[in-house]
Amino acid sequence: MNLKGRSFLRILDFTPEELTYLLDFSAELKAEKKAGKYEVQQKRCAGKNVALIFEKTSTRTRCSFEAAAADLGMHAVYLDPSGSQIGKKESIADTARVLGRMFDGIEYRGFAQKTVEELSAYAGVPVWNGLTDESHPTQILADFLTIREHFGRLKGIHLCYMGDARFNMANSLMAGCALMGMKFTACAPEKYFPNKELIVQCQKIAEKTGAVLEFSSDLNAVRGADVIYTDVWVSMGEPEAVWEERIRDLLPYQVNADVMKRAGPQCRFMHCLPAYHNTETGVGKDIYAKFGLEALEVTDEVFESSQAIVFDEAENRLHTIKAVMAATL
Ligand code: CP
Ligand code: NVA
Repeated sequence: MNLKGRSFLRILDFTPEELTYLLDFSAELKAEKKAGKYEVQQKRCAGKNVALIFEKTSTRTRCSFEAAAADLGMHAVYLDPSGSQIGKKESIADTARVLGRMFDGIEYRGFAQKTVEELSAYAGVPVWNGLTDESHPTQILADFLTIREHFGRLKGIHLCYMGDARFNMANSLMAGCALMGMKFTACAPEKYFPNKELIVQCQKIAEKTGAVLEFSSDLNAVRGADVIYTDVWVSMGEPEAVWEERIRDLLPYQVNADVMKRAGPQCRFMHCLPAYHNTETGVGKDIYAKFGLEALEVTDEVFESSQAIVFDEAENRLHTIKAVMAATL
């Protein structure tokens, strides 16, 4: 399998075979790191340079790219949301052509999907999407590696997504499930179902892979799910004013003990993180003061339960991002 020179802008950029290869490679790199084979990893991309552009904040994605680059013997340059000329004084096309001359690969986190696509069109080096409003492909690799570790397979696994299924996470999970022959359920009010065009595209893929895509507003849709997945109800870049409407619409779809019980004891809880499961965050405190809610998309009880595998998932961001860089550079 040769992925050299390829960008990773959305999960649909890769075939099921290519995704399987990236997951196998991630597992290999994870084992290599755990075995302390530092010199082996250092040689994989020694002497290369990568640029990491973040127009939105990040903990996991930034740290994974930086730590993975260091493990692979590379140097990473971080460009924060305000410290460069991007967008304000220099277009994306010009930025891409400048950075493409200096770096071997570029990570981009921002707003519109078309921005990361334009960056890739002009850069001449691999570009990796570290999250846009529409998609979060590197997160899906970490999620699928985690599912494989816990269930031994992806095919036939039933992943049920609860909450706002219109944004990056549900879009990318649906596409990933379609590619890998899984069952994907969006359990949400109808107006929060994924984008219709993407559903049609994913249904076509599902016909070939045996995947099943389902959309339901009935909480019984969680029955028998292997994984219940949720994400924040208000994503980065959205106005604070939408909280009230989201809480009203999505509170019935909060992942709580009742939902986990309905799903069954085999079910594991996943979340891309960060999560609002208590009042220990700035937003959590504000929401508690305004709406009297101690938790939003997931209760603290579920988040801290033995069914939650969110920190395995977070760790796997490092190993999968490392695989993407090492495979495409
Ligand atoms: N899951 C995720 O992308 O987290 P960060 O926003 O912290 O990078
Ligand atoms: N939907 C979330 C995902 C964060 C990793 C956001 O875009 O803010």
